[in-house]
Amino acid sequence: MYYKEYLSLENKLKSGSINGQDYKMSVRNLLNRIIVEIQENNINGNVKAVKDIYNDVKNINVPAEVKKRFDNIMLNELEIAERKVFLKSKMRILYCAVTSLCNVKCIMCQIVKNKWELPEHAVDEIIAAMPYLENVVWQGGEVFLYKHFERLMDEAGKYNVNQEIGTNGLLLNERIIKKLITYNVDLGISIDGLTKEVYEYIRAGADFDLLINNLRMLKKIKSDFSSQKTNWHLNVLVMKKNLNQIEYFPEFAKEHGFAKLCINSFGPDFDSKEENIFHYNKSREFELKIIDIKKKINRKCREFGIELFDSLPDFETLNNNSDALRAKDENNAKLSGNSHEIPKEALFCQVPWRRIFIDSDGSIRPECFCDRKYSIGNIASDRIEDVWNNEFMQRYRECIINGANHNLCKSDCLERRIPEKVLNYVVNPNLFWWDI
Ligand SMILES: C[S@@+](CC[C@H](N)C(=O)[O-])C[C@H]1O[C@@H](n2cnc3c(N)ncnc32)[C@H](O)[C@@H]1O
Repeated sequence: MYYKEYLSLENKLKSGSINGQDYKMSVRNLLNRIIVEIQENNINGNVKAVKDIYNDVKNINVPAEVKKRFDNIMLNELEIAERKVFLKSKMRILYCAVTSLCNVKCIMCQIVKNKWELPEHAVDEIIAAMPYLENVVWQGGEVFLYKHFERLMDEAGKYNVNQEIGTNGLLLNERIIKKLITYNVDLGISIDGLTKEVYEYIRAGADFDLLINNLRMLKKIKSDFSSQKTNWHLNVLVMKKNLNQIEYFPEFAKEHGFAKLCINSFGPDFDSKEENIFHYNKSREFELKIIDIKKKINRKCREFGIELFDSLPDFETLNNNSDALRAKDENNAKLSGNSHEIPKEALFCQVPWRRIFIDSDGSIRPECFCDRKYSIGNIASDRIEDVWNNEFMQRYRECIINGANHNLCKSDCLERRIPEKVLNYVVNPNLFWWDI
C-alpha cells in the first residue's frame, strides 16, 4: 500500500527521474494522506484497515522534523482501534485558556470575574509537548495579556503546530502580527458591532477606532508577505443590541480580508438577560428576524467567497414539524456531517483519546463541550501528562467504548446535537507545513 508507494519514490529519486525537491513534496503529500486516511478509517470503525495502515507504514523513513508527531499519530490511531483506555501515545490537541485577565469588560462575558492564569509548570509542560501536538487553541481572557503567551506562541511556531488564537484584536502590534503571519495560525477576532456606539457598548472599555487601525495594519502587513499561512476569521456574538447590524457583517469581513465569518448565539448561562434574546425575552418577531438574517448572510458570504459558520438556531425548521421539513433537516444534517447514523463498529466520540481542554479557571476536561460537573483535574495541582491517563480520563474512554448508556457524557453529544467535527475530528491535512 503506502510503503510500496514510498519505495517507488525512493527508487525514482535514486534513478534521478525526480529531483530532491519533488521527492520531498511527494513524501509530504503521502504522509498527509496516511494521516487523514488512518483517522477516517477509525471514525468509520474500520479497525482492521487502521491496523493494516499502522503496520504498512512502520518502515517509512519519516523526516526528522515531523517524526515524533507522525509516530504519535500512528500509535494513537492504533490505540483507538484497539480500544485502549491507558494510552502510550500522547495528547494530540490542546485547547488552553492562558489567563482570565482582559483589557475589555464585555457585557456578556463571565470569564473576567474570576482572576486566574495558567501556572508556570503548565507552560513548561506544554512546551515539552509541542513536537507531538498537531493543534493548539489559545483562549482568554485576552491571550496577549498573559506574560508567557509569546513564548508559547513562538514554541508552537518553531514546531509548525497549527495554532488557533481567540482575541479582541486590540493588543496587536507589528511584531506580533509578523509572528502570526509567519507561524501556522488561525486568528479569530471577536467583533460584535459595526459602529463605534454599538461596539463600545458591548465591549466596554474597547476603542473602535483602534480596532479598525489594527485591522488595517494586519491587512497591510499580510500583503507584504509572500508566503502567507495565516488566516483570520471574524467571531460575532448576536444579541439584542447588535441584531440590526448582523446582516452587514459579510461586507465588513470582505473589506478587512477575513476568510471566515462565524456567527454565534448566546449560551444560556448569561447574566444580562436583556441582551440574551436566544434564551430570554423570546418573540416571534425575533425569530422572523433571525430567519431573514440567516438567508442574507448566507447569500452574501457565497457571493463574496467567505466561508460562513452560522450557529444561529434554524427557526424555520424548528417551527415547522411537517414530515417534509423533517426529511429536509435530516438530509441537511447528513450533508453537514451531522448524520445520526454512526457506523456499528465506530466509537461515538474520540475526543478523550486525542484532546485535553484547560478552562479559564484551571479545570480540565477532554473538551469544552464535556459536562462541567465532571472535571478530570485542575492545572493548579495536576500535571497534564498525569491527567492524560488518570482514572477520570480512563473512565471517559471506558464509557465511550461501552456505548451510549451512561451519564458521564452530555445528552447533546450522545444524541448528536453538536457538530460531528467536534466529536470525531480529522486533523488538518496541512499539518506538516515545514518549509521546503
Ligand atoms: C471569552 S472571549 C475571550 C477571547 C478574546 N478576549 C475575545 O474577545 O475573543 C471568547 C469568545 O467568547 C465569546 N463570548 C463571551 N461571552 C459569551 C457568552 N455569554 N455566550 C457565548 N459566547 C460568549 C466572545 O464573544 C468571544 O468570541
